[in-house]
Amino acid sequence: MALESQVAIVTGATGIVGEGIARAFLQAGATVVAPIRSAGKEAALREALGSPPAERLHCPLDEYTTAEGAKALARWAALKFGAVDHIVACTGGMVPMAVLSAVTPSDFNAAMHDRVLGQVVLAQALAPLLREAQRSSYTVITGRLGVRCTMADGALFAIANAAVYGMVQALQAQLREKPQRVNELRIGAIVRRDSEAEHPHFPGKKSHPASLVAAEALRIAAGQQADDIVRLYLD
Ligand SMILES: NC(=O)c1ccc[n+]([C@@H]2O[C@H](COP(=O)([O-])OP(=O)(O)OC[C@H]3O[C@@H](n4cnc5c(N)ncnc54)[C@H](OP(=O)(O)O)[C@@H]3O)[C@@H](O)[C@H]2O)c1
Repeated sequence: MALESQVAIVTGATGIVGEGIARAFLQAGATVVAPIRSAGKEAALREALGSPPAERLHCPLDEYTTAEGAKALARWAALKFGAVDHIVACTGGMVPMAVLSAVTPSDFNAAMHDRVLGQVVLAQALAPLLREAQRSSYTVITGRLGVRCTMADGALFAIANAAVYGMVQALQAQLREKPQRVNELRIGAIVRRDSEAEHPHFPGKKSHPASLVAAEALRIAAGQQADDIVRLYLD
């Protein structure tokens, strides 16, 4: 199996895309750390992931998108595993939908906090945990709206996504002389859970199963590419 005996941290595993990635990594033999932000979500996540043995799926309770929470997660993982082989930062979720002229300062700040600062503090805390080896990988999951805003009311998605592209560039620059690989997986599509027919916020719109994204995330982790932007444009 591609990730046999390797340890991966997958953030956002209670969400649509992250759940698919956690499942694919478990199926590939990895031990998965899937931090959860509220205790009530652990049972459903374990069930959705096929109830893997406890030693293969760890769900520390942690508000990992704050600076303190991200550091606490890193301390927990360092104590438990020493170093980790892969990190997939798949954190974010929805933002208020509005055209640019209707974006309020508080919605802007919330989107930047939830979708951008959350990625920055995770990278700061977790990247140092990566085993110093070429097989180690850090993958950030993003969406295409920062390249072309195809939904007029997706202004905050466009702005926040573009900021995360910059965060990835900065992380790649910082680790460029190191063996650890940093990549962005940029999704151009609406993605749904495999178990559901559509995305709950975009009813009636064409969507693709999370397993398609997960297969690509697995290919990046198990492969050799570095410093890359992998575009998974499905529409
Ligand atoms: N689904 C799509 O159609 C799609 C398309 C293109 C790109 N993407 C990208 O894929 C990534 C994940 O998207 P998703 O659709 O899987 O999102 P989702 O279903 O809304 O899940 C978001 C995940 O992030 C976690 N999270 C952590 N901090 C958060 C915060 N401050 N606000 C909201 N959620 C937070 C959530 O935890 P809790 O469960 O505790 O809230 C959940 O696990 C995002 O970067 C997104 O841009 C998704």
